[in-house]
Amino acid sequence: MNGDPCSIVGHTVIVVGAASGIGQAAAKYFAALGAHVVCADVDADAAQLTATHAAETMSAVQTDVTNEESTTALVEHALNRWGRIHALVNCAGISGPLGKRSHEVAPEELDKTYAVNLRGAFLLSRAVLPHMLEHQYGRIAMVSSIAGKEGNPNMVGYSSTKAGLIGMVKGQAKEYAQDGITVNALAPAVIRTPFLDTQPQQVVDYMTSRIPMGRTGTLEEVATMLAWMISPACSFTTGFTFDLSGGRATY
Ligand SMILES: NC(=O)c1ccc[n+]([C@@H]2O[C@H](COP(=O)([O-])OP(=O)(O)OC[C@H]3O[C@@H](n4cnc5c(N)ncnc54)[C@H](O)[C@@H]3O)[C@@H](O)[C@H]2O)c1
Repeated sequence: MNGDPCSIVGHTVIVVGAASGIGQAAAKYFAALGAHVVCADVDADAAQLTATHAAETMSAVQTDVTNEESTTALVEHALNRWGRIHALVNCAGISGPLGKRSHEVAPEELDKTYAVNLRGAFLLSRAVLPHMLEHQYGRIAMVSSIAGKEGNPNMVGYSSTKAGLIGMVKGQAKEYAQDGITVNALAPAVIRTPFLDTQPQQVVDYMTSRIPMGRTGTLEEVATMLAWMISPACSFTTGFTFDLSGGRATY
């Protein structure tokens, strides 16, 4: 074995949703591991703030994953700034309508949730894959959710888009399995981030009560698992949804 297969030193990693929560923590961690990190987010100022963490190895670019031109511009930025793209980590996500059963949700209330959580993930992968194909190497990690595996009640847009993401990853993994590109998902349960502040406390309490470890996950636990998923070591696992749920999902 040559070197450390878990090393991402000198790799370029695009982190989408890097302005906050999981994406911000992951971006900082990857930079600390020696990667070049592109911090992308619709919130340009906050993405820029994340990138100041390690000014020489991080850059920032405003990206709206609902806009195809914006995802193309993100890839152009990464190539112009760092010359290569080894990995894409997509943490952009919104909860969509909450606290309503499906018959109470207006169809148009779901449009943005689909556009960000599912179509956005497709646009991002579509933008980076030609470059990864050219180099016959790539790592894609999509942050899904336990809601996509089990379905959370009163979150129809969120649960269905996160399940859709898992399906997309499975299909894409097979499409690029012989091209040195792995495509995987991560399904966290409850992680303490600003995302949780958008949800009613009773929803957070309900989700936490279903975790056998009886606690929320930490940002360090998410970032370290993502770092392995985007490393060269993750070479024989593709189309898989890694679990991060304190024992809630034992499958
Ligand atoms: N926090 C949790 O408990 C938890 C659990 C399971 C899954 N997740 C998933 O993890 C991911 C990150 O969640 P978080 O808790 O860090 O949330 P967060 O709200 O802190 O961060 C989400 C980021 O996505 C960005 N974003 C939203 N719309 C965007 C768009 N159109 N284009 C680009 N960026 C956009 C936001 O600006 C924000 O910076 C989400 O996909 C979420 O569904 C979170």
